[in-house]
Amino acid sequence: MRLEGTRLTWLGHATFLVETPGNQRIVIDPWLKGNPSCPPAFHQLSQVNLILVTHGHFDHMGSAHEVALATGAPVVSNFEIATYLQQLGVASTVGMNKGGTVSFGEIQVTMVRADHSSGITREDGSIAYGGEPAGFVITLENGITVYHAGDTNVFSDMALIRELYSPDIALLPIGGHFTMSPKEAAYAVRLLQPKTVIPMHYGTFDALTGSPEAFLDLVKGEETEVVVLKPGEVYQ
Ligand code: NI
Ligand code: MN
Repeated sequence: MRLEGTRLTWLGHATFLVETPGNQRIVIDPWLKGNPSCPPAFHQLSQVNLILVTHGHFDHMGSAHEVALATGAPVVSNFEIATYLQQLGVASTVGMNKGGTVSFGEIQVTMVRADHSSGITREDGSIAYGGEPAGFVITLENGITVYHAGDTNVFSDMALIRELYSPDIALLPIGGHFTMSPKEAAYAVRLLQPKTVIPMHYGTFDALTGSPEAFLDLVKGEETEVVVLKPGEVYQ
């Protein structure tokens, strides 16, 4: 599809950098230095305007604190994670919950359902309550909508996400074990009917065996275009 000035860079695993037509830089689920698939060039991000965190697991918020402190960008997450980050010294957070929409200029961010868990591992290894996991639908200045599913299994209310927000681009986990595997993700494509789908959350750990090849095979015949990126690669 035509992205009209939008640039999406996959930084490996579930981490994406979205550069918007209005020159805003949004980082979703920042996990940079500790992320084995994040290219070193992206280990430190500057000029970030907005940080979105889908849930409390380290592979989604591992670098949220650091990027927030380095850039001053507000962190949008569920209420519990926002409060947790405030206590770590992050000055600007927006705690919200599913069904809510927050606006940043002409950009709108809506929190939607995910079927997963959200505990935050503290430094001593114990787990803090991280609220409920979520996904985000981001509507950009040019009207393009991007759905980042977070970590999730497929759920039939993905049909509601399509009816309410008609995402143009869906970023879907396919690795299995902790999330959908290609089989469930292919069904998610049927429910969401996006113009483009970009698979994520595979290959990072040994347990994440779902492959883009298997996913491609299963969505053959759908009208959705599958874009397989390498970490660091841009879709625009
Ligand atoms: Ni997770
Ligand atoms: Mn994960």
